[in-house]
Amino acid sequence: MRIDILTLFPDMFHVPLSESIIGRARKKGLLDIRIFNIRDFAENKHKRVDDYPYGGGAGMILMPQPVFAALEAVDAKSSRIIYPSPKGKIFNQQLAIDLSKEERLVFICGHYEGIDQRIIDHWVTDEISIGDYVLTGGELPVMVIIDAVSRMIPGVLGQEESYTDESFYSGLLEYPHYTRPSEYNGLNVPAVLLSGNHQNIEEWRKIQSLSITYRMRKDLFEKYIRRQDLSKEERKLIEKFFKEYLKEK
Ligand code: ADE
Repeated sequence: MRIDILTLFPDMFHVPLSESIIGRARKKGLLDIRIFNIRDFAENKHKRVDDYPYGGGAGMILMPQPVFAALEAVDAKSSRIIYPSPKGKIFNQQLAIDLSKEERLVFICGHYEGIDQRIIDHWVTDEISIGDYVLTGGELPVMVIIDAVSRMIPGVLGQEESYTDESFYSGLLEYPHYTRPSEYNGLNVPAVLLSGNHQNIEEWRKIQSLSITYRMRKDLFEKYIRRQDLSKEERKLIEKFFKEYLKEK
């Protein structure tokens, strides 16, 4: 996948997008990430990129000219163009999966009070929020989106880093993990995990997932138990969870 990032702060990206899994994917050629400084496209003498808002009000607004020029220079027309903003559609795992299927993504990082609406109207295909809070700029949201999207591209995660068990993949939150030692300062690993009985382990994990999702995210739990595509075994476990686990509480 090719990813173009238009930003006023290119340095913010260098380390986060060079380390760990994303760094490895770039080295393997699975990700081609290019970072452009919007200021380089400003045509005025002082390379100014922002101006006061028409109608008055606080803050500065990113001007259309340098952003239009940058988008034209990278030939963004045929790709999804993403503008992170608190006004956007809330980002989630499904959107990450959808975006991971694109050949190319272009990101525009806003700063100051916002960007000229004509940039959004003319170019942006996806305005995306990473949550109901306000950040100082679009750089961190872009990194969050790129991280979540990249790991869904085939080959980016190694076999040992599979995502099929993790939170959100099945609609439930993930069960807890333990590693050695089996007892640490009097704290024990649940006995079932040491039993070697894979069927029991799988059932325990599923019940744990149901339980964590029930406690932490009732909205996801309700959605999960209403799913039409659940197997007989999954329905039995939900029943067991209601009968045995919830009774204990
Ligand atoms: N820019 C500022 N806050 C943001 C948010 N919550 N999501 C996406 N972009 C943003």
